Amino acid sequence: MRPILLNPGPVSLSEGVRAAVARYDFCHREPEFFDLQDAVIRGLLDVYGCDPRLWSAVLIGGSGTSALEAMLASLLPADANVLVLENGVYGERLSRIAGIHGIRHQALKAGWGDALDLQALDGLLATGDFSHVLAVHHETTTGRLNPVEAIAESCAAHEVQLLLDAVSSFGAEAIPFGHESLQAIAATANKCLHGIPGLAMVLCRRAALQQEIAPRTLSLHLPLWAEQQAKRSTPFTPPVNGLLGLDQALKELAKQGGWKSRRAHYRKLAARVADTCRQLGVREWLPASESSCVLRSYHLPAGLTYNRLHDGLKQQGFVIYAGQGKLAEQLFRISTMGEISDYDMARLEQALRQVIAGAEN
Ligand SMILES: Cc1ncc(COP(=O)(O)O)c(C=O)c1O
Repeated sequence: MRPILLNPGPVSLSEGVRAAVARYDFCHREPEFFDLQDAVIRGLLDVYGCDPRLWSAVLIGGSGTSALEAMLASLLPADANVLVLENGVYGERLSRIAGIHGIRHQALKAGWGDALDLQALDGLLATGDFSHVLAVHHETTTGRLNPVEAIAESCAAHEVQLLLDAVSSFGAEAIPFGHESLQAIAATANKCLHGIPGLAMVLCRRAALQQEIAPRTLSLHLPLWAEQQAKRSTPFTPPVNGLLGLDQALKELAKQGGWKSRRAHYRKLAARVADTCRQLGVREWLPASESSCVLRSYHLPAGLTYNRLHDGLKQQGFVIYAGQGKLAEQLFRISTMGEISDYDMARLEQALRQVIAGAEN
């Protein structure tokens, strides 16, 4: 039995994407590959209706972290002073990347899973000390959806530029691309877009790409990828099969009604899981109103270790995810991205009842 992936990416694929990935052998220096590359770039810009005269979608080979590293290394000038908003693993990762590339930064910290302090953010930006804010949209550590619209407002009020980690939100949550402060977002093919791992992307304003910034890396330097892609070329070997999969996945997303329909669908699935957990006495880590549509966290029930829960569900064909770091002993996470049928959901509800209620007996 093929497992249903309820971890936050990679996701269970549709049959269409699975077939597309292996449909052709492509040389990445032939015109048919560049047709595919052009289609994927157009498709990515279309997800949120980004105007291609203002926005560029730059494809790179790598994971979500590669996209983040490319975004920071390529778009932050040498004199940038960056405020990083941290309330989980991925906010902390942004600080780590900034540190590695010698980018001056300071963190505004909240506890893992806690809400960011927007008043403190506004106060810090009002000092005039910061040129950029780095934020995580959906903090996958706990499922918290950070208020990106309010963050963008605060940045705009103080003429600060915003770079966003949208790795686990692009394709299913609202992203304020029309907001002047938002300069770039980093994303990946294998989460809400339902493609395969290995292909990542940065959507950025063309103006941000045109800054004169000395390359901090070669293989993650976005202006190099963007310039070559605009010329129907590529600087290095791209993840060809990743593009084949994403092209199909983007067509399926559009056919299914786009990101808003995907959000509504994910919300429905997440609510079904939450209802079952509630009936079993399992408490949610965060209220639904503060969680993303993508993933919810739950307190581990007393008397049930994560390993027992994981292994019991895996035996029935479902892969869930542990809490990270210090949360490993306290919570478990269930993501409902990817190709999950009604039948899978019914089986999942049954499996949760069996493993959680069974542990009490
Ligand atoms: C919000 C967020 N940022 C960054 C990443 C890192 O992505 P990757 O593991 O593909 O490098 C993840 C992965 O789950 C994520 O959820």
